Amino acid sequence: MSVLILAIPALLIGCLSYYLSIWTYWRRRGIPGPLGYPIFGSFFKMLDGNSPPYLQIQKWTEKYGSVYGYTEGTLKTLIISDPDMVHEVFVKQYDNFYGRKLNPIQGDPDKEKRTNLFAAQGFRWKRLRAISSPTFSNNSLRKLRATVEGCSLELLKHIEEQTPGGEQIDMLSFYQEFTMDVIGRIAMGQTETLMFKNPLLKNVKAIFGNESSRDKHLFLIGGISPTFAQYFRYFILKYPIFGASNFIQITNAMRSAVQNRVDQRANDAKLGIEPGEPQDFIDLFLDAKADDDVEHFGEGNEDYTKSSLNTNRQLTTEEIVGQISIFLIAGFDTTALSLSYTTFLLATHPEEMRKVQEEIDGECTDPSISFDQISRMKYLDCVIKETLRLYPLGTLANSRKCMRSTSLGGLDMRNISIWGEDAKEFRPERWLESPDDNIIHKGGYIPFGMGPRQCIGMRLAYMEEKLLLSHLLRNYDFVPGPKTQIPLKLVGRATTQPETVWMHLRRRY
Ligand code: HEM
Repeated sequence: MSVLILAIPALLIGCLSYYLSIWTYWRRRGIPGPLGYPIFGSFFKMLDGNSPPYLQIQKWTEKYGSVYGYTEGTLKTLIISDPDMVHEVFVKQYDNFYGRKLNPIQGDPDKEKRTNLFAAQGFRWKRLRAISSPTFSNNSLRKLRATVEGCSLELLKHIEEQTPGGEQIDMLSFYQEFTMDVIGRIAMGQTETLMFKNPLLKNVKAIFGNESSRDKHLFLIGGISPTFAQYFRYFILKYPIFGASNFIQITNAMRSAVQNRVDQRANDAKLGIEPGEPQDFIDLFLDAKADDDVEHFGEGNEDYTKSSLNTNRQLTTEEIVGQISIFLIAGFDTTALSLSYTTFLLATHPEEMRKVQEEIDGECTDPSISFDQISRMKYLDCVIKETLRLYPLGTLANSRKCMRSTSLGGLDMRNISIWGEDAKEFRPERWLESPDDNIIHKGGYIPFGMGPRQCIGMRLAYMEEKLLLSHLLRNYDFVPGPKTQIPLKLVGRATTQPETVWMHLRRRY
């Protein structure tokens, strides 16, 4: 009994001093930053979907400068916004920062059997990246163009039907229908359009935006107690009612799509039917093999060559489910948001909208728009780049985990202004003047990240946006109406999204 009386306070004191040492971790190293509350650190601020973490980070950057630290439970985060330091972490010191910041509730990327490209690290990431890269090559994108154009024309049909009198529509929800249809058709074995009737859309939407804050208890548990999170994860995956139901429904839908294809292939083989051209990403992944050189990557760095990891060059069925799910999740929301912000900015900058329409009218003279025509429209390209400069919607994905002790050089930060006096203005021309190649390479503009882990879907996103915007803008003007939020109210947690983007689409002819 007396042992127990001594043990309990000792345990409590031990726990408290552990949490306090993490809570004061940055302070003790002379690095400024918000302290938040003991044990929780700044967790509550970072989990509030009504005030996106990205805006919170911006506010703290104004207050604490370009290098500061904060904690969320046991997680310690250093925020850097100096371009040279960003370059150092993402490129020069890649070998020390090859993992991504994940919450323990998201699972152990080295052990999960469905680990996806976004979460994977080390050898496993390299293998998945090597297998996935050809899927996003220029050659593959050329083949996907017709499907993306089909989805664009389908969206135009819905706009026509749903706005007979030029009524306002929430473009965000229309764009979500579009990107969901694109990814469904190019990645997941969907054979025809499901626009405005896709049952999976509500689950995918719920993973982002305001609704995602409902699952914040899961992240809180993961951050406060990483060990307990491992068991809790097992529990919530078994009993979805505790917060993972959307994620599980998506995974189940992906699993049955992959399994159907595996069964269909087995049947075809029995009947002696030769496999045809790949229909979508599922086929590409079933056929894919990583190149030999994967095994030589990172020689000298044992994290890349651990023999305990799966070294098979072909993906398992569960790994394919993981990859397709992440392409759906990462590709759906981001591209719809980027389209929404572009629409808002063009609607509120009619002169720039006119310029981009002139370019589209001059280039796209046939009903169909080719891959080469899209590539030639420079001003449209600038408009999208400028939009992502002002609204870098996926900022939180730009994270790295420090995998080995290292020091980041030159902690004396330079506070130069990258974009000049008009930094806050929407001015696509700045990209034509192009002093910025320099900045892009040095880490000053990273809406798609940088270095080996840069967004794999970037060119697909550009193609989707350019095709759809070209079709839309040659038929319509974007015109703000009474319901348009100016300025936009931003919400969301994993990504930063506008709450709504109500717009009139006024016929040009
Ligand atoms: C405008 C649209 C998009 C934006 C702004 C965006 C943004 C980002 C960012 C910031 C990252 C982190 C990069 C880094 O850590 O260096 C990322 C990674 C990733 N994105 Fe995107 N993304 C977009 C579209 C897409 C699409 C269409 C797909 C797939 C269909 C996709 C799939 C991925 C994947 C799989 C990763 C992880 C790559 C890796 O770790 O190797 N994204 N994205």
